[in-house]
Amino acid sequence: MSHLLDVAALRVAYGGVVAVDDVSLHVDAGEVVGLIGPNGAGKSSFIDGLTGYLPGRGGNVSFEGSSLDGKRTHTVARSGLVRTFQSVELFDDLTVEENLLVAAERPTLRSALRDLIVPSKAQGREDVAWAMTLCELDDVAHRYPKELSHGQRKLVGVARALAQRPRLVLMDEPAAGLDTEESLAFGRRLRSLPGHGVSVLLVDHDMGLVLGVCDRIVVIDFGKVIAQGTPDEIRADPSVIEAYLGSGDVADAHG
Ligand SMILES: Nc1ncnc2c1ncn2[C@@H]1O[C@H](COP(=O)(O)OP(=O)(O)OP(=O)(O)O)[C@@H](O)[C@H]1O
Ligand SMILES: [Mg+2]
Repeated sequence: MSHLLDVAALRVAYGGVVAVDDVSLHVDAGEVVGLIGPNGAGKSSFIDGLTGYLPGRGGNVSFEGSSLDGKRTHTVARSGLVRTFQSVELFDDLTVEENLLVAAERPTLRSALRDLIVPSKAQGREDVAWAMTLCELDDVAHRYPKELSHGQRKLVGVARALAQRPRLVLMDEPAAGLDTEESLAFGRRLRSLPGHGVSVLLVDHDMGLVLGVCDRIVVIDFGKVIAQGTPDEIRADPSVIEAYLGSGDVADAHG
């Protein structure tokens, strides 16, 4: 059985700076896997590298058994591997629903031909409605991003990824800036995704969230894997505690 996502020895360098140093990681269907590490550890670079944002990457990435080498980012997204960004960029003059519709429309030759015959975006609308309900955004569907709280805008970023009906979503700090209550609610939504056929790779600094929702966690520091295991194993791992020493993050989390 091959993994849903299989990353082997991924390497990302910016000039002389090696940001991701031969990191291997896999996600199986139905899993929520965490990727954590201190600031600058290489988490965003890892996501950039595996979704093809960085042409000079090294290593091998395969998704559902097919290599992603040389694939363009939109081809990767269409194959079911979608990401969110650390800073959410929404279209300010589009409503929440319209922001999602733009993402859900995956223009292919087939859909373009279909739209000529049946000029509707029925499938896109269905996917958007599904994503909005899952993220509990129905009440703000017709609002503009400026009218939303920071937490709601982050959720729109997540819903926009989900509206593309991914098999795996890579989330880069989706809970940053959420308060405790919002983070708990977000964790419950995240946990429900595998039941909808969506697996998750979660990058976040909110240790309560990560330890509370992930099946497995991989910890990187200075671009290298320093630990991996279940939330309980990660909590007790001396190298993780040392990497986070001073921040008190791991010790404080009782998730
Ligand atoms: N475009 C870039 N050019 C040069 N160096 C970069 C670039 N992007 C990231 N880096 C460097 O690569 C390393 C990893 O950065 P990255 O943003 O991947 O870390 P991160 O784990 O996502 O951090 P954070 O938790 O702060 O988001 C850091 O040393 C960073 O300074
Ligand atoms: Mg980052």
